[in-house]
Amino acid sequence: MASLVLTITLSLLLLAPPTFAFNCSKPPIYVDIHKRAVHDSSEFQYGSFIGVGTPAQNHSLWPSLTQNHTSFAASAYCRNSSLKGCEDGTGGFFVKSDSTSFQENDNFKSLDNSRFTGSSSFGQDTLRLYTHYFETDGASQTLVENSTIEIAEKGSIAPGIVGMGLSSTLLQSLVSKDIIAGRTYSLYIGQGFDRAGGAVNGSNTFGGFDAGRFTEPVHAYKMKESNTSPFTVRVKDITITSPDGRNVSLLDKSVFQNTDAGPFDAQLTTDQYPLSLPFSVTENFKRQLNARPDPENRFGDDSLQLPAPFAGSMTIVLDDGFSVTLPGEVLSNASNISPVQNRARNDSRPFYLSTAFLTQVYLMADFDSYTFFLAPAVQKNNIVMPTTFCPKSIPRPYVWPKQSAWVRNGLIGAVIGGVFGGIGIGIVGFCFWAAWVRRRAERREEDEERARKRAKMEQFEVEEGVGTTEFEGPPKRGARRGWRFWRR
Ligand SMILES: *[C@@H]1O[C@H](CO)[C@@H](O)[C@H](O)[C@H]1NC(C)=O
Ligand SMILES: *[C@@H]1O[C@H](CO)[C@@H](O)[C@H](O)[C@H]1NC(C)=O
Ligand SMILES: *[C@@H]1O[C@H](CO)[C@@H](O)[C@H](O)[C@H]1NC(C)=O
Ligand SMILES: *[C@@H]1O[C@H](CO)[C@@H](O)[C@H](O)[C@H]1NC(C)=O
Ligand SMILES: *[C@@H]1O[C@H](CO)[C@@H](O)[C@H](O)[C@H]1NC(C)=O
Ligand SMILES: *[C@@H]1O[C@H](CO)[C@@H](O)[C@H](O)[C@H]1NC(C)=O
Ligand SMILES: *[C@@H]1O[C@H](CO)[C@@H](O)[C@H](O)[C@H]1NC(C)=O
Ligand SMILES: *[C@@H]1O[C@H](CO)[C@@H](O)[C@H](O)[C@H]1NC(C)=O
Ligand SMILES: *[C@@H]1O[C@H](CO)[C@@H](O)[C@H](O)[C@H]1NC(C)=O
Repeated sequence: MASLVLTITLSLLLLAPPTFAFNCSKPPIYVDIHKRAVHDSSEFQYGSFIGVGTPAQNHSLWPSLTQNHTSFAASAYCRNSSLKGCEDGTGGFFVKSDSTSFQENDNFKSLDNSRFTGSSSFGQDTLRLYTHYFETDGASQTLVENSTIEIAEKGSIAPGIVGMGLSSTLLQSLVSKDIIAGRTYSLYIGQGFDRAGGAVNGSNTFGGFDAGRFTEPVHAYKMKESNTSPFTVRVKDITITSPDGRNVSLLDKSVFQNTDAGPFDAQLTTDQYPLSLPFSVTENFKRQLNARPDPENRFGDDSLQLPAPFAGSMTIVLDDGFSVTLPGEVLSNASNISPVQNRARNDSRPFYLSTAFLTQVYLMADFDSYTFFLAPAVQKNNIVMPTTFCPKSIPRPYVWPKQSAWVRNGLIGAVIGGVFGGIGIGIVGFCFWAAWVRRRAERREEDEERARKRAKMEQFEVEEGVGTTEFEGPPKRGARRGWRFWRR
């Protein structure tokens, strides 16, 4: 009900004339995240499929929600780097002398407090954003010419990064070159990399979101521009559910005597894998699960280790009620490593809900209205549906067509579209409203249908995806019109 009210309120607000006209007919750019061959390395590496230079040098870039520059490893990066497995972990190497389109820019002043230990250079070159839906097909590319790139000479982090911070130069280029609708971006980081130990791949959508990658409820938050990660949320509770279904809150003073654990602000980041929680919450986590620091810190990120595999889960509850559950396989991986970092009492760094959290969550960012949205990520059997994310609108997931002939035949869309063309906005609002209410009523039915479909789809992950995108996509005409309506 709350979301209903929010929807109405926001849609009324959006009726106000936009101060700037966005062209929300522009399709988004979808760039997937998985393991692939990269330039000058024999190892397949996990990241966003982005090339640089002419001819193309292909890379796998890790998305960062804080760094503003898109960066590449210089060929000499590993000669003086403390990055573990550096030669096969940079996301590729950029040889600038091999690119005919590269132009050095010595006077460029970095927008970042760089983590490349004082040693990086800047220039302009062509970025190539590859869209690659199916392994069997070739990729298509979007060229972003004269993009600002950072070339990392030395440092201790993996240097191949898509910078999606508040002042992202890539997003800015895409907008100023009129390639996407606005400063919007969505991310599912996936879990097909070694630390997460999973198989599910991720995606970036520039100027859009993947409507097949998340479900309701969609939660809205204001960005906190003063934080390094503007994606800041308030955590109100963290509970551990034991295998027998019992819940213990790590903030519960009747369970953890003398604890001063309470609600706290945390920044979303992909710059590290483990969560960094307040000292007292971390202590309670250790007590509840007998977790301990690994004395050798073998994995280099201070993750706590559990004494044995744990079949329970951990649920993080945000102050608006959005709760995200880290399942057992995330809470203790095959080496019993947990996704929670040890923390000293005097540590004053921010608290982070980091990559481990984002393996379960779809993030949608609107840098034009400084708003972001979080929703449960659909991890398996998703159907890729890149959809324009018009600034100042609320992203909605694709809802599977159901029994209803209205929805199946796209008639809701047709009605809205038709009315929108002819009559006044009030009637459009009513139709949209009626359609929405109907859709909501159908949702329970849909859930059952979805469960039935799931079993079947498990066997046809890719093939079924192709067919469904083509034959059962959202009522295209209607959705587009509906979308325009939302924008106003
Ligand atoms: C909006 O973008 C679409 C797709 O790129 C284009 O065909 C159309 O001409 C644009 N409209 C305006 C008003 O710029
Ligand atoms: C993820 O991408 C890899 C290619 O790197 C592919 O082999 C694999 O099947 C994909 N996983 C899923 C679950 O689609
Ligand atoms: C490597 O880094 C160390 C410490 O920053 C420095 O003393 C040394 O000169 C560097 N070596 C090269 C080859 O850059
Ligand atoms: C990116 O730019 C924003 C300002 O737009 C700044 O607050 C943030 O600190 C920058 N990121 C880094 C890593 O310095
Ligand atoms: C880079 O990727 C594109 C798209 O798949 C491909 O056409 C091109 O051949 C690749 N370049 C190299 C050097 O592998
Ligand atoms: C390329 O980008 C730089 C820095 O943003 C700018 O100064 C220059 O004018 C651009 N060149 C062209 C040809 O657009
Ligand atoms: C568990 O996590 C550690 C720490 O990053 C990683 O090195 C290891 O590969 C993971 N193990 C499995 C089986 O996923
Ligand atoms: C424990 O917490 C989970 C996650 O919030 C919830 O789904 C479940 O109903 C709770 N169980 C009990 C017994 O309260
Ligand atoms: C925290 O305290 C430890 C000793 O207890 C000290 O070694 C460390 O430098 C301190 N860290 C900070 C950030 O003050």
